[in-house]
Amino acid sequence: MSTAAELQKTIDEMIDGERGILAADESSGTIEKRLKAVGIESTEENRRWYRSMLLSTTEVGRYICGVIFYEETMTQKDDKGTPLPELAASQGIIPGIKVDKGKGPLPGAPGDMITYGLDGLEERLTHYKSLGARFAKWREVYPITDHNPTPLGLTANAEMLARYAAVCQSLGIVPIVEPEVLIDGNHSIERSAEVNEQVLNAVFSALRQHGVTLEHMILKPSMVTPGKEAGKSSPEEVAAMTLRTLKRCVPPAVPGINFLSGGQTPEEATANLNALNQPENGAPWKLGMSYGRALQEPAMAAWAGDTANKALAQQAFLKRARLNSLAKKGQYTAEKEAAD
Ligand code: 13P
Repeated sequence: MSTAAELQKTIDEMIDGERGILAADESSGTIEKRLKAVGIESTEENRRWYRSMLLSTTEVGRYICGVIFYEETMTQKDDKGTPLPELAASQGIIPGIKVDKGKGPLPGAPGDMITYGLDGLEERLTHYKSLGARFAKWREVYPITDHNPTPLGLTANAEMLARYAAVCQSLGIVPIVEPEVLIDGNHSIERSAEVNEQVLNAVFSALRQHGVTLEHMILKPSMVTPGKEAGKSSPEEVAAMTLRTLKRCVPPAVPGINFLSGGQTPEEATANLNALNQPENGAPWKLGMSYGRALQEPAMAAWAGDTANKALAQQAFLKRARLNSLAKKGQYTAEKEAAD
């Protein structure tokens, strides 16, 4: 199969009207923080058990089409000895891999961040592909302040995303391009819209410069919301500002936009996705999710580190997956949230 045909096949399987992407790619430091918050120690065995528990949930493949792994998970096995990428594939879920190596300060741009990991990327991707990965993810992070992101922050981060995406496509791996505008702070929704617009414009300009094929990538942006300390906007307002921003910046050639949850509660993230998917909005892309916390938080809390809680944890996970699938069709309601 040609590289282009391979990319198209993965896109066709990942972009549909019903299913979303599970982000289970928390780095060692992040998963430790998440597990600690619910009183669980972050041992390799706990991480292996927890991630195989999620992927072995009966019927989860009806609602989830892809899973993003952290490198450790690519070689872990479930209790029966099946490698986790194979377990995912057996549920109809395509395995993918986070390939950035985390972030640090961007010299020359006080307050901005930059993500590491371009060195050796081609070799790492080739290795992960041999283990079953068909798509990848790279995240750049943009804090909002009165001065950030700076013009240098905008161009430097966009360049990283574009270079990563170009390497992925050259190897037949679909890139998820994730420019995360952080929710931290007390900024208004208008300020968030302004920054998201600057970020997306810079990202698509760099993607064009690097010859990235827009039809063969997935965008994973933040929703446009007020800062966490500035109160909440209604789902309708979030949807209106997010769509205005996306329509100004993202060409319709991009097949799918899968939002991150970024600190929204699970219910908020589902309600906002539902508002985005009302038919009258006329979005030219498939709008879905690639949530980490908003899909996993209730399951992690139900597990509480005790394997006896497996059924409860899987039930909690399946519920969020199913409700987000409804939201993708614009059919989520408060009654359906309360029903189970
Ligand atoms: P959240 O949905 O928890 O923001 O995670 C998504 C993700 O992949 C962050 O990189």
